[in-house]
Formats: sequence, C-alpha cells, structure tokens
Amino acid sequence: MRAKIVAGNWKMNKTLEEGLSLASEVVNMVADEVSGDVKVVLCTPSIYLHAVGKLVSGKVSLGAQNAYEKESGAYTGEVSPAMLATVGVKYVILGHSERREYFGETNAQLAERVNLVLKQGQTPLFCCGETLQQREKGIHLDFVKQQLTESLFHLSAEQIAKVVIAYEPIWAIGTGVTASKEQAQEMHALLRAHLASKYGQVAESISILYGGSCKPDNAQELFACKDIDGGLIGGASLKARDFVDVIKSF
Ligand code: 13P
Repeated sequence: MRAKIVAGNWKMNKTLEEGLSLASEVVNMVADEVSGDVKVVLCTPSIYLHAVGKLVSGKVSLGAQNAYEKESGAYTGEVSPAMLATVGVKYVILGHSERREYFGETNAQLAERVNLVLKQGQTPLFCCGETLQQREKGIHLDFVKQQLTESLFHLSAEQIAKVVIAYEPIWAIGTGVTASKEQAQEMHALLRAHLASKYGQVAESISILYGGSCKPDNAQELFACKDIDGGLIGGASLKARDFVDVIKSF
C-alpha cells in the first residue's frame, strides 16, 4: 500500500500570527475529522518552521519549501537540510516550478539536494511538471521523465523508495485550471512506468501526488485515480476548512 499524503504549500504567505492560527486549526480539525491513514504535511515559510513545529502532532508533520545543497558554510540566506532537521522538519519540497523558474534551480542541483535531504532522514517532495507550451508541442511526457532521470535516477532502490514525487503541471498552478483526471492519471501512470523501468517493483510503493489548483471540489475525483496518491496544495491550503476538506476527499 502506498502512503496517502496531502501536503499544504503555503508559499510566501501569512504573518507569523496567521500561520500559527492556521496550523493550530488544521491540527485540531484533522484530529477531530480525519480518520484513516492519510499523512498531512504543512510546508510553511522557513521562518515559521520552528514555531509551527511546536504545534504539529498526530497525522500532521512539518515540511519545508526548499533546502540548499550544502551542509553548512558561507551561503548567505540559505538553509540546509541539517538545519531544518533541528527544528523538526520531516518533509522538504524540492524543485518546485517557482523555484526552478525564479531562482534558476537545475536538475543537477536538485539531485544534490535530494541526497542531503535523504541523508537527514527526511522525505523529499520532489516536484516535476511541464509548461503549457511544452504540453501543446507534445513534449510534456519526455520533459517530465527527464526531470526524474536527471534528479533521481542516481539513487539506489532503497533511497528512491523514500522519495515522494509531486506532479505539478505549471499551467495548472494558481490558475484555477486544474488538469483533468485523465490528464493527471496519464502523467502519473507514465511517471510510475518510468520509475519501474529503472527500479522495477519499487515503483509501486512510491507515492505520486498531484498539484495545481487542487481544491475541495475537484480533489475527490483526482484522488480516486489509480496512480494519484494525494496532493500538493497551494491556495486551498491557506484556509483550514478548505485544506481539511481536501484531506477528507480520500
Ligand atoms: P495551487 O494549488 O495554488 O494551484 O498551487 C499548487 C502548488 O504549486 C503547490 O505546490
């Protein structure tokens, strides 16, 4: 059985006070309303991790939105997986399309980050996804496969089994346009087949999350797809009621 995971990516939103109140609301609502074995992750801005880490409990864990590929040193403004571990971070988003686009993160750099995150015993939430232009040209499947090959295929089978993948089509992020369940399932199945081509049966145990305008009113049909094991949620994770309703879509 693959782990079912719903992670909220707050991106660069909320004051500290708002973030703490959102986190407590989510933790309480999840405890009261969510049954079953779904795992919930709150990926807060890094400056709030320490404080939110004191509030999470039960099914809810702490996640970071990024980490640098060095253990420590003269890298002003950056945060390492080892530092994140000291404040209780269990999951780290890597390679979000916004980081790739605005901060120039490359597949090779992400491969190094995956290594360090795994070394800390944390779970990488490795993001991949194509632009609308790539989809229209029909090169989206190859493009996303290449993101996996270049950032993950150096891992051993034991290591890849600890990675969670998030497919986030860039054209669906923050646009209100979600991928149809057919489009999402097609890509998820392809990613799993690609993982199987290298890692065999291990691919069956790897959770692949969908992200991109996933909300309470479409989560259920997406999560019902055979190869979709949860979601990486942006906008809808900023309101406790919406986020918990997405979680309850399982
Ligand atoms: P939205 O849910 O706001 O489209 O964002 C998705 C996302 O980028 C999560 O990482």
